[in-house]
Amino acid sequence: MSTPVLEVRHLCKTFPGRHTALSAVEDVSFSIAPGQCLGLVGESGSGKSTVARMVCRLLEPTSGQILLHGQDITGLTGRDLRAVYRQLQMVFQSPAESFDPRRTLGDGIGESLRVRGVPRRERERRTAALMERCGLDPALGARRPHEVSGGQCQRAAVARALAAEPILLICDEATSALDMTVQRQIMDLLAELKEQDGIAILFICHDLALVQSFCDRTAVLHRGRIAEEGPTEQVLLHPCSKAAKALIDAAF
Ligand SMILES: Nc1ncnc2c1ncn2[C@@H]1O[C@H](COP(=O)(O)OP(=O)(O)OP(=O)(O)O)[C@@H](O)[C@H]1O
Ligand SMILES: [Mg+2]
Repeated sequence: MSTPVLEVRHLCKTFPGRHTALSAVEDVSFSIAPGQCLGLVGESGSGKSTVARMVCRLLEPTSGQILLHGQDITGLTGRDLRAVYRQLQMVFQSPAESFDPRRTLGDGIGESLRVRGVPRRERERRTAALMERCGLDPALGARRPHEVSGGQCQRAAVARALAAEPILLICDEATSALDMTVQRQIMDLLAELKEQDGIAILFICHDLALVQSFCDRTAVLHRGRIAEEGPTEQVLLHPCSKAAKALIDAAF
């Protein structure tokens, strides 16, 4: 078997509380192969975003390991962290979060190219090509995040993530704020990235129908623990755990 793009081992996160500490994530392990999409589902507060934020190193795990393409990135800091950082990109629910409100979308999309020393002309050409790939008119690159629609901004956020040439894309409710048509378009784009570019995706989503149609495997998180994980069909159509059954009963 090929090396997983992402492997998470015994990940835990405890937040200090006023009276008792809260274990938001407890002993979570999973892996994602190249070109594979893992759906992460679970009731609100079950720990999905906390897992995502730890994988992105936006949040320090209390314990456990995160391996990116076999490399343990858990303890990395400074320059070493920045070097791997580019390889994992996150797309959030509110796309404007990915951009500096004072700068143009084009600047935001081209930022990782600039950091890597790509000259301005080439950067502009590649930014325009990425925007087109994401179904955006490159002319929108001159606008600021608040001057485009939510759907356009989300596509720009995907283009921004792609500019970094990631091996892993983490989508935390990335399509939840979009209407059905735009949602479909973003999902088609993600499917293409997965199939053509072999990008692995961690897909966090409340919409189980969407997870069913898109994710190869699905993990159900319940109170910070994985209640069940397996091929999506099996988990969503023939769940074994109480937590997965309850979630599915509530959804369908
Ligand atoms: N920075 C923080 N400090 C303290 N507690 C936190 C912090 N971030 C998250 N939590 C708590 O950790 C638990 C898991 O939160 P998390 O955001 O991971 O849930 P989620 O599954 O993403 O929920 P949702 O579906 O509502 O987005 C919750 O009880 C939450 O209140
Ligand atoms: Mg969340």
